[in-house]
Amino acid sequence: MIDKFDRKITYARISLTEKCNLKCKYCMPQDFCNAKNNELSDEEIKNIVKALLNLGINKIRFTGGEPLMRKNVIELLNEVCSFAQIDWAITTNGTTLKHNALALKKAGIKHINISLDTLNSQDYKNLTGADLQNALDGFYKVLDVGFEKIKINAVLIKGISEKQIENLAKLTLKYNVDVRFIELMPIGQCAEYSKEHLLKASYVLEILKDLKIANQDAHAPAKYYKFNGAMGRVGLITPMSCNFCSECNRIRITADGKLKPCLHSDIEIDLCDVLHNQDLLEKRMQQAINIKPERHYLNENIYIKRNMSCIGG
Ligand code: 5AD
Ligand code: SF4
Repeated sequence: MIDKFDRKITYARISLTEKCNLKCKYCMPQDFCNAKNNELSDEEIKNIVKALLNLGINKIRFTGGEPLMRKNVIELLNEVCSFAQIDWAITTNGTTLKHNALALKKAGIKHINISLDTLNSQDYKNLTGADLQNALDGFYKVLDVGFEKIKINAVLIKGISEKQIENLAKLTLKYNVDVRFIELMPIGQCAEYSKEHLLKASYVLEILKDLKIANQDAHAPAKYYKFNGAMGRVGLITPMSCNFCSECNRIRITADGKLKPCLHSDIEIDLCDVLHNQDLLEKRMQQAINIKPERHYLNENIYIKRNMSCIGG
């Protein structure tokens, strides 16, 4: 699928659930109630995947909330990943990977991103409400099982990240993982927290003076650097100042069945009434891609209302 601005759309992110076992302060409204359930059924997710594949999507990433909190998620992934040989990926907080990593690999997941903002257990607890050890166990298990690509996502948070940047980045010396530092984006009900705790990605380069420019990935929002002799890369993601829009190849499906042609726009196309008609579903997706905005307007202080926990990054 080609959009109005000549961008080839090949990458879809599907949020499998809004539920999460963590409550990261920049993502989950602290009064968020996990009981609300407007999740799509397994059959509806399968229909969405089939339609995306028919439209030429060649990479699908499952997100949340926390995707592994979805009921019977492994069974679902086993099925959908067998539909085609494409880049199947997942973004997870890692806290259940100790038990799930092998099953994910067997299902066909090739790329795995783990959200890990700090290696300090007290800070991790304050930020997420959970125990760091579970996320670390998950990370080590993933290394053990082995995936094509393993990345760590670390959101930069003023007052928390400064002392952690070096520790996190140095994981790339020892392990074949990319560690990506992400500037906080003001999104949904947590927008104020994000604005107050913004720490610029350029700060990473101020601290890590030994980083050299590395090889880059096409259509990826991260700019990559590397330490001499390191196994993995250090990435910087700067949504506020990025010029990535002209290369954007992605669309998103929210946990409640809306197609978001752009993360930073409130434009959403409801798929719910066509989820059981494959023809209409594909047509609706095509219409949605035709109205993908040219770029974001974050710098003009235009932020989206929807919470990150329903979009999945
Ligand atoms: N700004 C930047 N990154 C965010 N994430 C969640 N909320 C935000 C935000 N407001 C990150 C998560 C996860 C990825 C999908 O997006 O930490 O790693
Ligand atoms: Fe959960 Fe990820 Fe949001 Fe944290 S950032 S609350 S782990 S969905």
